Amino acid sequence: MTTTNVKAPELNYDHYSTDKYDQDIINSIPFHKELHETLLAFIEHKFDASKTYSILELGTGTGITSRIVKEALPKAEFDLVDFSRKMLSGARKKMGTNNVQYIFGDYSKLTFTKKYDLIVSVIGIHHQNRKGKKALFRKIYSLLKPNGMFVFGDLVTHKNPQKAALNQALHFHHLVEKATDRKTLEEWAYHHYVLNDLASIEEQIEWMRRVGFHVKTLLLKVNTALLVCKKTSKSGH
Ligand SMILES: C[S@@+](CC[C@H](N)C(=O)[O-])C[C@H]1O[C@@H](n2cnc3c(N)ncnc32)[C@H](O)[C@@H]1O
Repeated sequence: MTTTNVKAPELNYDHYSTDKYDQDIINSIPFHKELHETLLAFIEHKFDASKTYSILELGTGTGITSRIVKEALPKAEFDLVDFSRKMLSGARKKMGTNNVQYIFGDYSKLTFTKKYDLIVSVIGIHHQNRKGKKALFRKIYSLLKPNGMFVFGDLVTHKNPQKAALNQALHFHHLVEKATDRKTLEEWAYHHYVLNDLASIEEQIEWMRRVGFHVKTLLLKVNTALLVCKKTSKSGH
């Protein structure tokens, strides 16, 4: 089953120095900083820094998100997945090798044998098509321990067409404002217009609930969302 509209080479990450990539992802995603501040505050509030949690990250990129989680939970054990070796090499620079395992591959196809306390994905699932997203939410649910949590930050769209159109315009406006040069803008605009496969926040929450998650929205600004999805012990899955 093909669940993604892109393969790793089409994401064009291999031409990037990972430092330039860091600047570009931060600048091109509206509220990237705020999303991570919200994620950090949530993790600090809900988890105990002295405990050893097992954490899986889907679509690690250069490790911007995992480094923040590791700062909050220094004893945690991380499995970091990406289908770009270049991106994983950037993550290795930030995360090192202590309690960190790097897994190269497509998360929708990999078989995971462990169960996790926390699964994180930030700006890492929006290339999955609708079928792919639904299947992935089921897979994530099955990989969590009872009461485990999935913290999901991503670009989304909106059910209401007027709201979707307005937020799409605001997103492109952000790209025009933040791109340092024409070539960068061309790349970001192409990525957003052609490669991204966004689903509405409303549908995604519905798919998560159907799987058994209890879902709470921590942040929703323009097309950037951060959701916390808890595996409820009474859901029977
Ligand atoms: C845009 S980065 C986000 C990194 C970081 N969380 C952040 O917010 O800066 C997302 C990563 O997901 C990876 N990715 C996308 N689809 C994937 C898949 N199906 N399997 C594994 N990795 C995937 C991409 O290669 C990319 O490095």
